[in-house]
Amino acid sequence: MGIKTTLKLVDMNMAKVFAPWILRHPKYFLVFKKLVKSFKKSLVLRNKAKEEGYLVPPFMILSITKQCNLHCVGCYAAEVGTLDIESSSQLKIDEWRSIIKEANDLGVFAYIIGGGEPFLFPGLLELSKEFSERLFIIFTNGTAIKEDDFKVLKKLKNTAVIVSLEGDREATDFRRGKGVYEKALTTLKRLNKIGVLNGISVTINGLNYEHWMNPQLIDSLIKKGIRIGFFLEYIPSKKDITSSLMLTEQERKAFRAKILEYRSNKRIYLIHSPGDEELLGGCVSAGRGFAHITPSGDLTPCPVSNIASHNLKTSTLEEGLKSRLFKVIRENEHLLETEGVPCALFAHKEEVEELALSVGGYVINNKEKLIEIKQVKKSQKVS
Ligand SMILES: C[S@@+](CC[C@H](N)C(=O)[O-])C[C@H]1O[C@@H](n2cnc3c(N)ncnc32)[C@H](O)[C@@H]1O
Ligand code: SF4
Repeated sequence: MGIKTTLKLVDMNMAKVFAPWILRHPKYFLVFKKLVKSFKKSLVLRNKAKEEGYLVPPFMILSITKQCNLHCVGCYAAEVGTLDIESSSQLKIDEWRSIIKEANDLGVFAYIIGGGEPFLFPGLLELSKEFSERLFIIFTNGTAIKEDDFKVLKKLKNTAVIVSLEGDREATDFRRGKGVYEKALTTLKRLNKIGVLNGISVTINGLNYEHWMNPQLIDSLIKKGIRIGFFLEYIPSKKDITSSLMLTEQERKAFRAKILEYRSNKRIYLIHSPGDEELLGGCVSAGRGFAHITPSGDLTPCPVSNIASHNLKTSTLEEGLKSRLFKVIRENEHLLETEGVPCALFAHKEEVEELALSVGGYVINNKEKLIEIKQVKKSQKVS
């Protein structure tokens, strides 16, 4: 079967964007076949798990390090405490290796790498190189990729690099820091030049929304060789002033319509959250579409959520995926509804935290919260 026909089986847009790209970059041709084969194999394994009564997601999100060289306004990783984890408790490369190995055997097909800044994790690209039959999508701020990394990336054929941008220079430097826009653009140019599949990730918020409603901008990305665009609506992880950055309902609707328009007439593969999740019946966390591992090994439903019941230093991934916690989140369907907020679990934050405690889970990095909830529970029992 040809590349285009194979990709069409997964997604028409994928065929439209990636088939010509693969043909122009022949080094990806053989790898494409290998990845298709491993995708099919992983699907069989996931179906088997389903028959056995638990869900293995096709994607795992790995927050590979807490280290970061930037301080972006409203970064969810900073807000939920991922960046505050004790350095000494972080997973080492061998621990990540064995987690990925187990995940592969369970049927996970692709790894989305975040953090922190992944390129500050020594040995990051060794993982992509070692697990060459799996897809790696690395999110980066674009300021920490070293010369040696570019050399390795040039040879890797299973790895896409997604550089975060907010919009133009002003918008990007406002949220990410002075000079970041220039560095991110240089990185994108370089990735393109050496033939690495690349894209951008935009946190859509009230300040950059107008900017991305302009189709000419999408055209200019395509001209630069960018083939993937993640548009993640801004999630305020704390109910503080940054919640004002969230899109209004009207803006959200208009932006969704724009994404669908771009999808129909632009040669770029767009992923929109939460819009695309709604097509799948709501939030796809907790193993429905993905699950997340923190730098210290806690298995959480998604990167924006700080609840867990298993840590992969002491439990297997299979035990975590079979957990009561993941099951109750999926079973309580109303928890998967976004209710006007871009993240379903954030929309039900308190309820989700209580649910975690009720099934023996814990709230990561938030001992005070844990004590507070336990006290409320105790007083409820007394009265
Ligand atoms: C947490 S970062 C980690 C990877 C890397 N440091 C980077 O900036 O790309 C992953 C992505 O999440 C986005 N992001 C950060 N905070 C967010 C928030 N509050 N809501 C939605 N997306 C957010 C970032 O812009 C980035 O594209
Ligand atoms: S670079 Fe990424 S992890 Fe670091 S603060 Fe910015 S969004 Fe957060």
